[in-house]
Amino acid sequence: MRVITNSPDETKKIGFKFGKLLKPGQTVCLYGDLGAGKTTFVKGIAKALGIKERDIMSASFTIISEHEAEIPLYHIDLYRIEKGADMDTIGIYDYIGGNGIAVIEWAEKIDIEDSIKVNINLVSKDKREIIIEGINEKDWNNM
Ligand SMILES: Nc1ncnc2c1ncn2[C@@H]1O[C@H](COP(=O)(O)OP(=O)(O)OP(=O)(O)O)[C@@H](O)[C@H]1O
Ligand SMILES: [Mg+2]
Repeated sequence: MRVITNSPDETKKIGFKFGKLLKPGQTVCLYGDLGAGKTTFVKGIAKALGIKERDIMSASFTIISEHEAEIPLYHIDLYRIEKGADMDTIGIYDYIGGNGIAVIEWAEKIDIEDSIKVNINLVSKDKREIIIEGINEKDWNNM
């Protein structure tokens, strides 16, 4: 499915709607250039899980941020990790497929077998194209 947003708030709202469809154990892989809006989208997901938006930060040094909630959110940012790095050592897999939801920025750095994929493309200053693969379109439309 494909959505166009025209502001950060709209991207958060799409993230919120998307977040409401997520189930414990699911992994979301986020793709998109610097400043595309990945973290903005994660803020919307967080809100859907009852986590404060402002607790979601562009983690420049933190690779994994854990957010406790009924369904915990594991916000993972692989920007600083080299492609081909040993993800076992970093401990990423401890957060995948458990009782929470793992959301991974710069997910091209890792191979996850079963995940929902979200591509965010920078169209112009405030316009973004968001392409979501791996959710049921009927569920989305019925929200
Ligand atoms: N439609 C939009 N959706 C999302 N962000 C937008 C939009 N229009 C403008 N922006 C701006 O783009 C920037 C997106 O930043 P954000 O940190 O979410 O990107 P990112 O993809 O996480 O970047 P990074 O790769 O550095 O982690 C913000 O400054 C936001 O205000
Ligand atoms: Mg980010």
